[in-house]
Amino acid sequence: MSSVTVRVPAKVNVQLSVGPLREDGYHDLVNVFHAVSVFDEVVAKESESITVSVVGEWADQVPVDDGNLAVQAARALAKHAGRSYGADLVIHKAIPVAGGMAGGSADAAGALVACNELWGLGLPYEDLLEIAGDLGSDVPFALLGGTAVGTGRGEQLSELPMGGVFHWAFAVADGGLSTAKVYAECDALREATGAEVPWPQVDDALLAALRTGDARALGGRLANDLQPAALALRPELARTLDAGRAAGALGALVSGSGPTCAFLAADEEHARRLADALSQLSSCRTALSAHGPVPGPRPA
Ligand code: C5P
Repeated sequence: MSSVTVRVPAKVNVQLSVGPLREDGYHDLVNVFHAVSVFDEVVAKESESITVSVVGEWADQVPVDDGNLAVQAARALAKHAGRSYGADLVIHKAIPVAGGMAGGSADAAGALVACNELWGLGLPYEDLLEIAGDLGSDVPFALLGGTAVGTGRGEQLSELPMGGVFHWAFAVADGGLSTAKVYAECDALREATGAEVPWPQVDDALLAALRTGDARALGGRLANDLQPAALALRPELARTLDAGRAAGALGALVSGSGPTCAFLAADEEHARRLADALSQLSSCRTALSAHGPVPGPRPA
């Protein structure tokens, strides 16, 4: 096989509950991930060494050196297989960079699946999931897709049964936010109040809304503990959230560590109208509409 292509979806967190800071610098989470139909494409071609290039709207913001998570993924997979394989990776980028939609994690997951196939390794999903967890907290979910609860750092996953399709609009801001900085700001805001941080709990009403496909109920349960921190770092996001609510969104929240904001719509047409309204805002670089859940990466 000389080339393998996989499509990998972005995610939105419909519940992100952040527990106390751990000794290893991470936080225990209840992280309900939901994969949505905004896709990066990862192509892996036969090559002597592992290289990467990026094309698409966000290409200039993605590192093409060792900082690239897809390169790290291919290297980790080769190491796991115990041989020095090569792959020329080409990433077609549609997921906003550093936007809170796990675009880098998606590319890493895509590289794992594509190189597993290109190199004829035939490793089972469980092995890929283990490598994924070492690459980043969101990479295992990027491999899985669908909808799942993540605990621990977010890497321990349990898939959720789903009862329907949800429609979303996303307002993408100019410039990214560093995930580490948003967590640090969350800790600082909490420290300033002095209140004890509770252990994160799964919201059963949210899971029921996902299970029954009830968009109105889900809209009322969307929650992100990182949102106050993202708003403190980027105050203009409050206007974006308000504008989406005023345009009739069933629910609105910052996606993950932001700055992308996610809006739940009643149906596909409503999602498109929301995206049109959001795209007019000065705080919004571009707006997208999408649906979820969608499956994780598989070779085409
Ligand atoms: O796991 P990943 O490298 O994607 O995490 C990026 C940063 O986000 C970490 O260095 C940490 O600061 C923060 N983080 C956290 N708790 C988590 C996941 C990420 O504090 N559960």
